Amino acid sequence: MTALPPLASPLVRWDLADDVALVTIDNPPVNAAARDVRAGLAEAVSRAAADPRIVALVITAAGRTFVAGADIREFGRPPLEPWLPDVCAAIEASAKPVVAALHGTVLGGGCELALAAHARIAAPGTRFAQPEIDLGIIPGAGATQRLPRLVGMIAAIEMIGAGRRLAADEALRLGLVDAVAAGDLVTAAITHARGLVGRPLRRTRDLAVPPFDRAAAEAAVVAIDRRARRQVSPGEAARATLAAADLPFDEGLARERATFLRLVASDQAAALRHVFFAEREAARIDRIAGVIPAPVGRFGVVGAGTMGAGIVVAAVDAGFDVTVVEMNDDALTVGRERIDGIWSRAVASGRLTEAAKAAKLAKIRFTADLAGLADADLVVEAVYDDLAVKRDLFARLAAIVRADCILATNTSYLDPNAIGEGLPHPDRLVGLHFFSPANLMRLTEVVDTATTSPRTLSTTVAVAKKLGKLPIVTGVCEGFVGNRIWAVFRRECEFMLEEGALPHEIDAALEGLGLPMGPFAVFDLSGLDIAWSLRKRKAATRDPNERYVTIADRLCEAGRFGRKTGAGWYAYADGVKRIDPYVTRLCEAESATKGLNRRGFTPDEIVDRLIGVMAAEGEKILAEGIVARASDIDLVFVTGYGWPRWLGGPMYRAAQRRPV
Ligand code: 3HC
Repeated sequence: MTALPPLASPLVRWDLADDVALVTIDNPPVNAAARDVRAGLAEAVSRAAADPRIVALVITAAGRTFVAGADIREFGRPPLEPWLPDVCAAIEASAKPVVAALHGTVLGGGCELALAAHARIAAPGTRFAQPEIDLGIIPGAGATQRLPRLVGMIAAIEMIGAGRRLAADEALRLGLVDAVAAGDLVTAAITHARGLVGRPLRRTRDLAVPPFDRAAAEAAVVAIDRRARRQVSPGEAARATLAAADLPFDEGLARERATFLRLVASDQAAALRHVFFAEREAARIDRIAGVIPAPVGRFGVVGAGTMGAGIVVAAVDAGFDVTVVEMNDDALTVGRERIDGIWSRAVASGRLTEAAKAAKLAKIRFTADLAGLADADLVVEAVYDDLAVKRDLFARLAAIVRADCILATNTSYLDPNAIGEGLPHPDRLVGLHFFSPANLMRLTEVVDTATTSPRTLSTTVAVAKKLGKLPIVTGVCEGFVGNRIWAVFRRECEFMLEEGALPHEIDAALEGLGLPMGPFAVFDLSGLDIAWSLRKRKAATRDPNERYVTIADRLCEAGRFGRKTGAGWYAYADGVKRIDPYVTRLCEAESATKGLNRRGFTPDEIVDRLIGVMAAEGEKILAEGIVARASDIDLVFVTGYGWPRWLGGPMYRAAQRRPV
């Protein structure tokens, strides 16, 4: 290797391997195509053109991955020159062959750089994707036009519009890469580049889009739009891709760029970027910085009800050995059926084979004897949410498990400190609050109790991540973050009912904001009876001066528990949801009893008020130090309460709605 006079960019270097320039992008951690990367590549291509010693170029990247995309931190600001599409155009136009040597995650703008090269060589294990839609945008540097020319229209629509990821072998089969390197990647790419010298270059822009089934492609676009609901980027991305078949290359490119620039400045894209960075921020937990998690092999679950069964499935799916304990053999049989049922549904829909299901079941030890947990590294209890029951269970468990076995409570509302009172080695107590269905919901609140040690916290967070969850560390307060804010939200909905709004108006306002379903429709779906029994239990201790709305109680007293009883906040004769005059009368009667004059609410007023109370409660939670940052609260709603990611969460929304 001979050194070449350096490039101006600090993020790109180059050397001469005999007669091939090896251009190395070095922008850790993921080699994002930041301005200096783009500038370095552009300079390398232009200087190579004028340098007679260079016959070809290989573009590669240092570290764990090739370019994982444009630099997202540059979005939302005026684009800095040179722009990525121009750099791609310069690579493609180069008279000297350019080969991309790919490894790691070749994503977004990184994949686009590769598509503009004259050939692509990948290391085994390389993964490819155009994940722009997840950021509320579409590709902005040619993928919508170049990818269909290489892999065909249907595969391109699936990648760009539906986020399909390709492994190296599939990328090879589809024609995205020319070869998967058997040995050293860079050596293979240099050899390949030399082989292209003196031959006509295969420029992706000059290829025709291979013939495809137009009806199937259009159906795919429609399906993508439908699945995305109100998120605009997937449909836009799919349509921009389909346009490659109808427009000359440069026009297709211009259409793509215009859509990219429009979307990158949109509210949805800004919110999705907020969530992207929020997820990475949430992983920074000061209290456990540098604390190595303990290994966890055997996972214990006490209680195989709906929540427990979901936890067991999540744990087995994540590769843990699991011991399940129930009170007796009958309860164990029911629990086993529940777990079996979850995987059976996966088998029925073709996501799992019978053999794989059997292998998963075989990883579970079922027992009615707590002593079966003696070898567990972490036990999570998912038994009835009652303080005495949970306290007794932990006391008995403490006599069985190792002193360093983590004891996690899945309580929703009880105080974990009280559950762990008197526990020997209380440093291993922690809350692990899953959301139902626990095998599917991504949120897990990890509750840092008064006695939880950094090691316990670090291990529990690591376990939650291994389970595929997004752990949000919270302190102890009633309902933790999610249920505490949800309770305030729910109460405010009810206040508005007695002030003049109707359930369907509140639902419509929130659906207008972007929630998939308004809260009253959700209550009806999940059933009103559980919350009612909780209210009845708490009735004796409720402050008589507290504002309390009785409409939900009246509904339950009338046997209206929601969809399952054919009526709740709505009526469901023949299964169809309808506004029910009975509920309207109940609301009016409540206002009259309280002496309140009913008035109309605009959708904006409803939304402002609800976001306002959620954010105010969030501010209190922050002031109490329950969570580290406002964006953690947003993540709770985005990953645990069905808030679309493109809404960004209540704290984010409140900041957007606040007049400046
Ligand atoms: N731009 C800027 N920063 C990025 C980035 C990007 N494209 N991708 C990752 N980062 C940052 C992260 O914020 C994080 O920073 P931090 O350490 O300060 O928190 C750091 O890189 C490491 O990221 P992860 O924690 O996510 O690391 P992982 O190893 O878990 O994952 C990854 C690596 C798979 C590359 C993942 O980061 C990822 O999916 N990144 C986003 C990829 C993407 O969306 N690319 C498309 C961008 S849009 C585009 O290219 C438009 C184009 O068409 C013009």
